[in-house]
Amino acid sequence: MAKNTTKDYDAELNKTVFNIKHQRTFCMIKPDGVMRGLIGEIIRRIEKAGLKVVAMKMMLPTEDLIKKHYPTSDAAWVARLGSKAKKGLADLSLTAKDTYGTDDEKLLGENVLKGLIQYMQSGPVVAMVVEGIQAINMVRKLAGPTLPFMAEMGTIRGDFSVDSPVVANVEGRSIHNLFHASENPVEAENEIKLWFGGEIICDYSLGSDDIMYCKHY
Ligand code: TYD
Repeated sequence: MAKNTTKDYDAELNKTVFNIKHQRTFCMIKPDGVMRGLIGEIIRRIEKAGLKVVAMKMMLPTEDLIKKHYPTSDAAWVARLGSKAKKGLADLSLTAKDTYGTDDEKLLGENVLKGLIQYMQSGPVVAMVVEGIQAINMVRKLAGPTLPFMAEMGTIRGDFSVDSPVVANVEGRSIHNLFHASENPVEAENEIKLWFGGEIICDYSLGSDDIMYCKHY
């Protein structure tokens, strides 16, 4: 039988390829994105890329939720945060020790985390589950890298934020980078479970699915 729609193709895909095609990721517009009126702009970019929002809610996260969201007890993750905070210092002829008072990445990471936990509770966030082919990579690409001063124009963080760890950390606050997106499949699964648990995730087709995702000729 001729396959005309993406659903026809889906029926014949093996599970691995089906899961890649319908990969789900968690993402979130952070309080600065909501308070700057960028909800529509950010969702527009996700939809324009051909990705589908399958769950969404606005909420004021609790400290407990934020502490569960970020792997605060994972020493390697905290140290990685500290090492990221050092990025760009050398270009400004600065050292971590002179700027932050320490170059210990674990200590630096712990300090970053304090500001981050406060920032994430400073206003409402919009939490979403987004689906599409390799959605995890796609949404990370739309977001751009963590540090706004390094994010390319054309990305959410590059177009709408300007911040650097040097200034943020010396001011004792988080970097305001508008948006969060899961980094890998394990993170996506955990974050979807944490933020949406058993809540409804909607399964529907976009009118554009058949043109974007299937051989219709
Ligand atoms: P991380 O998980 O490394 O990045 P991403 O959000 O791109 O996955 O870092 C979590 C958040 O920590 C990041 O979005 C912004 C914040 N942060 C700071 O506030 N200050 C810093 O110096 C760094 C490195 C991160």
